[in-house]
Order: sequence, then structure tokens, then C-alpha cells
Amino acid sequence: MDLLLLVLLFLLPWVSGLPFYNGFYYSNSPRGRDPGQDEGPFNGVKLVVETPEDTLFSHQGANVTLPCWYHYEPDLVPQRPVRIKWWKLLDNGAPEQDVLVAIGRRRRSFGDYRGRVHLRQVEEREVSLEIRDLRLEDYGRYRCEVIDGLEDESGLVELELRGVVFPYQPPQGRYQLNFHEAQQACEGQDAVVASFEQLFRAWEEGLDWCNAGWLQDASVQYPIMLARGACGGLGLAPGVRSYGPRHRHLHRYDVFCFTAAALKGRVYYLEHPEKLTLLEAKEACREDGAQVAKVGQLFAAWKFHGLDRCDAGWLADGSARYPVAHPRPNCGPLTPGVRSFGFPDPRSRKYGVYCFHPR
Ligand SMILES: *[C@@H]1O[C@H](CO)[C@@H](O)[C@H](O)[C@H]1NC(C)=O
Repeated sequence: MDLLLLVLLFLLPWVSGLPFYNGFYYSNSPRGRDPGQDEGPFNGVKLVVETPEDTLFSHQGANVTLPCWYHYEPDLVPQRPVRIKWWKLLDNGAPEQDVLVAIGRRRRSFGDYRGRVHLRQVEEREVSLEIRDLRLEDYGRYRCEVIDGLEDESGLVELELRGVVFPYQPPQGRYQLNFHEAQQACEGQDAVVASFEQLFRAWEEGLDWCNAGWLQDASVQYPIMLARGACGGLGLAPGVRSYGPRHRHLHRYDVFCFTAAALKGRVYYLEHPEKLTLLEAKEACREDGAQVAKVGQLFAAWKFHGLDRCDAGWLADGSARYPVAHPRPNCGPLTPGVRSFGFPDPRSRKYGVYCFHPR
């Protein structure tokens, strides 16, 4: 008797653990699923969802529409409201993030997207997603899913933000940040930890950096244009070199941050009669109705507004830098870039200041 009970108890989780099915089925396969696979209760009527092939590019602070359309083959007027579900695929195996669900006229949006997303239905069978006031974290792959009864199809939309990747080292020096501190370091500079795709694009555009840094997927990599002995060896081809995934708490590196072109502010070198200490610099920007610029803001201004100035200035993290869009003699190396003087003594009076004014 006891034995039977034991067997029953043992079997119980298996019985109750049957595949859970509530009418939603989320496919992880990319666009263009096996045709025929989903023909079924409709007697050969097929639901088709269309999204653009090309990646969309946008800016931080902008409004963007991710297009999505559906129709039936052969054409048919739907008898009942369809369900629409927009969700975002996340990297590193995290579960997907719900963005918006619509059933008939009802809508629900989730998390950080609440209040910023709307279903755009200007034309019949359009179920595009409008995202307002784009944030840095909004880039990525979104899935548009249309559910009509048991019929369920989806399409993918890829959104990228125009931005710039920059390596970051804290005042304490090289290789000081674990993954969580790296995230905070980027946030502190008005940026987020860069993804591999973002670093790769930066490498294609010429980024060469000999210190390894964290990326969004908790891997550690560095981009090399010119192989050299002190930087992974002469024998290797140029490329993005990877140390692979690292331990998020125990391992310490620099970080690659990503910041996007912002529509909402202006960075400028403050015209001031004297050079300033860090404290005086902060005060001077405040008197000008602004704040000391963050590193990410300076990079974005350099990259997207061609900020070019041969005077080094304080930034909010206590580093001193200057942006050169048009290289010239007596103004550092002959390639465009943001030059750094590291973290000088905050009391030294050798620098001006870059301020940021929101508009
Ligand atoms: C985005 O849309 C909102 C609401 O329609 C509008 O108020 C805002 O100005 C738009 N922002 C931009 C950058 O176009």
C-alpha cells in the first residue's frame, strides 16, 4: 500500500506537468515559418503577418513606428477580433519582455513601455507599434504576433538606435568593474552597456581599443584594427577579440558603453575667462543654466553634432577631455576622436568645462 502511494506521489508531477496550453503559442523560429505547418482549423485559409526585412534606425527621444500588417490567404473578412501581441526578444536567454497586448478595442501595455506605446491602425489590418520618446534600452528585436483562434503567426522587426560606442574606465583605473558596476558606470555617463552588434559596428567604423570591456551579454571583448604585440599579439587578424562570457561578480574589466544621438540637449564648451577646478567648473555650468556634461553626452555631441574644440574641459565624472571632429596639427592625433586626459587632480586649474543644456 505504502509502495503504491509512493508511486502515485512520484507520478503526480508528471501528470500535472503535461504541456501547458492556453491558446497562446509562442514560436521562436524566425520569419517564414514552414508553410503548411499552421493550416488547420481554417480549412486551408492561411494567416500571413508581414513586417519589414530591413532594420529600422532611430534616435533617442524620437517617436518610431514598427510596421506590422496581416491578411488572409485566400482573402477573407475575419469573423472575430484578432489578438495582437507585441513583445521584445531579449539576449542572454532571458525570457521575452511583453510590450503590448490588444484584443478588439482593449489594450494593455507593460513595464517601461506603459504610456509610451500605442497600436497604430491607420489602415485596415495594420497592427503597427508606435513607441514614443525612445530610450537607449529600446533597441532590439520585436515580435508582432497575430492570433486568430488557434491560428497564430508572427513577424520580426529589428530596431536600432543611432549611437556611439565608447570605452569607459572609472577614476580608480583599469579593470576595476564587475558587470553590475559596469552597468552603473555607463548609466552614470548617460549611456548603457553596449551590445556586441554595437561594438562590432563601432569596430567597422574604426574603433581600436586595447583594454577589454564588458558587453551587454556579460561577455568581455575588445576591438582591434591594427594587430600589435602588446595587444593580443602580432599574428592575429584585426577584429573584435573575445574573452568569452565572464563571471558577473568576480571578474573585473573596463566597459564599452553605448549612447545614442539625443534630440533633447546641447553640449558646449563654456566660454570663461579662467581655467577652473572641478568644483568651480560645476558651479560655472550651473550659473549658465546648465550642468557639467557627462562622458556619453560629449561623445554623442562629437559624433552627431560635429562638436570640435581643441580645449580640454572637465566632465561630470571628473575626467578631462576634448572632442575633435576635424583633426589638425597641434590638436592631438590626426584621427577624429574624443581625447582624454584621464582623471586629473580635481583642484588643478588647467582645464575649462563642457556643459550640457537640456532643451
Ligand atoms: C512624439 O509624439 C508625441 C505625441 O504625439 C508628440 O507630442 C511629440 O512631440 C513627438 N515627439 C517627437 C520627437 O516627434
